[in-house]
Amino acid sequence: MTVDFPAGHGPVPTLAGMPDLDEKTITEAVLRAGSHGSDERLGTVLGALVRHLHDFVREVSLTEAEWAAAIGFLTRTGQLCTPDRQEFILLSDVLGVTMLVDAVAHRRSPTATENSVLGPFFREHRPSFEAGADISGGLPGTPLSVQLTVVDTDGAPVPGAAVDVWHADSAGHYDSDVVGLEGAAMRGLFHTSADGRTSFTTISPAPYPIPDDGPVGSLMRASGRSVMRPGHLHVRIEAPGFSTLTTMLFREDDPYLENDPVFGVKGSLVARYETHEQGEALRHSFVLDRA
Ligand code: BEZ
Ligand code: FE
Repeated sequence: MTVDFPAGHGPVPTLAGMPDLDEKTITEAVLRAGSHGSDERLGTVLGALVRHLHDFVREVSLTEAEWAAAIGFLTRTGQLCTPDRQEFILLSDVLGVTMLVDAVAHRRSPTATENSVLGPFFREHRPSFEAGADISGGLPGTPLSVQLTVVDTDGAPVPGAAVDVWHADSAGHYDSDVVGLEGAAMRGLFHTSADGRTSFTTISPAPYPIPDDGPVGSLMRASGRSVMRPGHLHVRIEAPGFSTLTTMLFREDDPYLENDPVFGVKGSLVARYETHEQGEALRHSFVLDRA
């Protein structure tokens, strides 16, 4: 076995038995090296990752400077992660991977309500409310009356479903970012009644930018992409015997619907916010898939 050195150096014999790796054969070598583990699924996933990563490097003829920049980017992404800030999930969101994993992992009934991203503003510690409560926290904005119904794929009401809602204010801020606001607002946990319904009043949510002061924001600007999410109401519904639904409702007149930076908009999740003298009203039925 020999290695061809550039002109001027003659062929130099390699140590017997050493594999002769080049830009093609290195992929097989890495795959072989990882093929002895006992976890079959890990082997499948890592193997595909190595193949695609190597193909990617070859396809774009990645330079050392570009690879160093990528590693610097991923390092900064990790360094920004704390219990309150998950820059890696945001990266997954803006690369469309979050929604792709959801699409692949949940091949649900076509009549069931579609999922969307969870986002970083859900809180485990949120107040519980009775139907009809005002969750606006007294913040200024267009009053919004919301009536939600939860049914199964046969159209039968789902009583006792836990319905979480959360949203931003009329300036696009979630409660933790509203200056001068103490505690929770514009979020809460409801339970559906015997007829599968619940309701609340709040203020209409405005569009807002994804957190863009970190490496993901820099990536978005470098790629000429908008960081603005269309205004939305987050909804997460859990009920025994059903798949958990994590979704959101957008408004049909929102100027940012077409370019959601996290690809969370689906046609079926665009709703009409009806205008009334006292404000706006939103009525929506969610269809849960059996687990
Ligand atoms: C959100 O809607 O809260 C959100 C989702 C994904 C990334 C950033 C924000
Ligand atoms: Fe949101």
